[in-house]
Amino acid sequence: MKKQTDKNAVREIKSVKIVGSFISDHFGELWDKSLNDLIKEAVFGVLKNVSKDGDFDPKEIEAVYIANMASGIFNNQLHLNAVVSELFEHFPPSIRVEGACASGSLAMITAQDALNSGRYKTVMVLGVEKMTDFNSNEATKVLSSASDYNFEYGSTFPALYALLAKAHMHKYGTTREQLSAVSVKNHAHALTNSKAHFNKLFTLEQVSQSSMVADPLRLLDCSPVSDGSSAVILSTKDSGKLLDGKTVNYKNKPKIIGMGHAQDFLSLANRKSLTSLNATIKAAKDAFKQAGLTSKDIEVAEVHDCFTIAEILAIEDLGFFKKGTGGQATLDGQTTFGGKVLINPSGGLKACGHPVGATGVKQVAYLAELLENGIKVKTDRSKKIMNFKYALAHNVGGSGATVVVHILEK
Ligand code: COA
Repeated sequence: MKKQTDKNAVREIKSVKIVGSFISDHFGELWDKSLNDLIKEAVFGVLKNVSKDGDFDPKEIEAVYIANMASGIFNNQLHLNAVVSELFEHFPPSIRVEGACASGSLAMITAQDALNSGRYKTVMVLGVEKMTDFNSNEATKVLSSASDYNFEYGSTFPALYALLAKAHMHKYGTTREQLSAVSVKNHAHALTNSKAHFNKLFTLEQVSQSSMVADPLRLLDCSPVSDGSSAVILSTKDSGKLLDGKTVNYKNKPKIIGMGHAQDFLSLANRKSLTSLNATIKAAKDAFKQAGLTSKDIEVAEVHDCFTIAEILAIEDLGFFKKGTGGQATLDGQTTFGGKVLINPSGGLKACGHPVGATGVKQVAYLAELLENGIKVKTDRSKKIMNFKYALAHNVGGSGATVVVHILEK
């Protein structure tokens, strides 16, 4: 196997284009949609989004990768690779990938590996989770199966991230107000995103005084339990076919130029540090090396903010801010429009929502759309479009045992 630093490997990864992207309309409590509806919506939605001139020819899709964490429990439906494949007349080969909250990005890298090996030239990657038919207690129990069953039995994800928050506050003096600033900013960003679970502004005080979930994390520090799906079409070709036989050119489609995937102990008790996610540091290092970039080149990132402390850890471990300064940087406006680096313009998991299996694919789909179209920002007097050249997606499984980082170029 070639090393990730091998020049050829870099070249091959650079040639993977994101030729279509889709995020379900919208994330949230979707009472009227089943798991199968969300899968269908993503498949047919992404086929529509490849070109303005017509629908993409489904026969171009040589394989489908579907990410999902827990449909066997939430929806009593397993074998999702068969569920998705039968939506195509030609029944493409299909694989389901599971890695807790990182299922989506793991499906992405599984698909990229198949493309880079030359096995396929065009594939679809899809993420889905339908969680809200369970109440929060039941959903919490299902989600906790992504922690270490032997060492962390009985703990919940808010409780595990609360331990990380306490450690960070103790070591670096991170404050309640700084945690709240992450939530305030991401809820504000979600107002620019019509697909977000929440479309409501909160103040620092409202976040700091929302009901306690696991000390110090409160309701408005947590990402919600959401339903949703997302999809991308990846290709190593220069063009593809629409249903009416027309050709669609991929010249201007965003590219994936770097990826990193790293693992750490599942249980917090075994980790070297509680104030960094080492898997983030490692995955980012590989992704930046492949892309030939550093964190200074990244203008926009979707990072895994399942809890407010998770965003602070991410922006430090990805190298955007010095260790221990992520909270203050957020409070100072360095991670919003006009700041040093725009973090979670979609609203992140906190406010756009977190349908677990869909999240990693959604981050890439959202950033691909951002690179293609820019984002409309209101200034004091007018609206302007902000454009970006490089973007980063950071997806975490559980409390940091699995991390995937992708770097995209316009
Ligand atoms: N952020 C903002 N508002 C939220 C919210 C969240 N995370 N979760 C729920 N709400 C809102 C609901 O919309 C509802 O508002 P309304 O009264 O205006 O309709 C209200 O809060 C109560 O909702 P409810 O569903 O009863 O909340 P809950 O107390 O049962 O659940 C949490 C809240 C925080 C426990 C739940 O969202 C949760 O478990 N989040 C973490 C999910 C998780 O661990 N994911 C994996 C990460 S690794």
